Amino acid sequence: MAKFLVQKSGPLNGEVIISGAKNAVLPLMAAAILAEEECVIRDVPDLRDVAVMKEILRSLGSEIDEMEESVLKINTPVVKSNEADYELVSRMRASFLIMGPLLARTGSAKVYSPGGCSIGKRPIDLHLKGFRALGASVVIEDNFIEAKAGEGGLIGADVYLDFPSVGATENIMTAAVLAKGTTYIENAAKEPEIVDLANFLNKMGARIKGAGTDIIKIEGVEQLRGASHTVVPDRIEAGTYMLAAAITRGQILIKNIVPDHVKPITAKLRECGVRVEMTDEGMYVIANENPHMVATDIKTLPYPGFPTDIQSPFMAFLTTAEGESTVIETVFENRFMHVAELNRMGANIKTDGSNKAIIKGGRTLEGAQVIATDLRAGAAMVLAGLVAEGTTEIAEIYHIERGYEKFIEKFKALGATILKIDG
Ligand code: UD1
Repeated sequence: MAKFLVQKSGPLNGEVIISGAKNAVLPLMAAAILAEEECVIRDVPDLRDVAVMKEILRSLGSEIDEMEESVLKINTPVVKSNEADYELVSRMRASFLIMGPLLARTGSAKVYSPGGCSIGKRPIDLHLKGFRALGASVVIEDNFIEAKAGEGGLIGADVYLDFPSVGATENIMTAAVLAKGTTYIENAAKEPEIVDLANFLNKMGARIKGAGTDIIKIEGVEQLRGASHTVVPDRIEAGTYMLAAAITRGQILIKNIVPDHVKPITAKLRECGVRVEMTDEGMYVIANENPHMVATDIKTLPYPGFPTDIQSPFMAFLTTAEGESTVIETVFENRFMHVAELNRMGANIKTDGSNKAIIKGGRTLEGAQVIATDLRAGAAMVLAGLVAEGTTEIAEIYHIERGYEKFIEKFKALGATILKIDG
């Protein structure tokens, strides 16, 4: 299994261009099968998760052309199968996002249940509640979920989400676009990736209003056409490079960033003593002027709150800030796997088995053998490794490659000493 070796690297400096968002491109690709005509998606990041979604689409009958770097042409004149391959779906939880589009296009869909995951139970009850509200029958058998629309197809309905789940909002939105009548999703997720998906669907001829607010209204249409769309920049990747500047006390110019999308990260970094300036060129994150970063408290929340995906990278940074910080995770129930790994590197972080971690900062970290316990925790380990004495050896880096485009190249260009080895 491949590993990363990360050396203490000094302040990172330079500029980085942010890729299209992983969490936007996956639902966009899935939504492309709603149309018989060709869809073109630009700024598609080269990621493992994108490769899996391509395979799923091909297995359902889509023709996919890579016209040039980061541009995908998806053409699905006929859906050949309404069953997503078990092996592919089990490789990536976000595969379940194919369910809504498949159900809408063909009237039935059978997809393996993505099941558990290292960051908590991650159930799909809200997705299924939505499909049922739209009139589909849903049967769960041997971990396969089969949804079937009634004779007349899906029917618009009011769906209240008990929690503003990103995936459930996306799956219900893509199912409802071809339903008869109007659907309201209440307590919908408001993430920028939801807005991006709604924009794409509207270009395809859907009638969606309110994406980015608590209530999304979807008026069903007869059919959708092909469309062309550029993926929104990845706010989580941007946040990771903001933290790379902060933890190494460097200065990074971040290009292709939407400042509004990273507001909570900017606000918290400023509280700690980092200067963040938006210019016409991009966002400057300046941490080389202030040697004394101070502690702060963080609570993860659905957007526009502090993103759970930046919790672990931010925690790595807080180990270097002076004073005591508290981090509360409210989105996922088991997202502190990185705590043990950071402590292995000399951090002083305590959790009491609940969703709260207390970080005693101002520590000098030491290189160690650690594990990328999930995608973002992997990024957190790299950040910690950049400031730890000696070498940090990170195992299970396939997690990182699932979601960060050109990770090593981008970090190296900023001055990081990082190497991939085959273990
Ligand atoms: C998406 C993102 C992920 C991010 C997360 C929260 C993608 C591909 N992934 O994941 O990177 O960390 O949003 O911002 O976009 N829940 C239920 N029932 C459901 C669905 C979810 O209880 O039917 C719960 C989950 O267990 C979790 C919470 O809701 O505790 C948030 O999950 P959700 O917003 O659905 O996250 P994902 O869409 O899986």
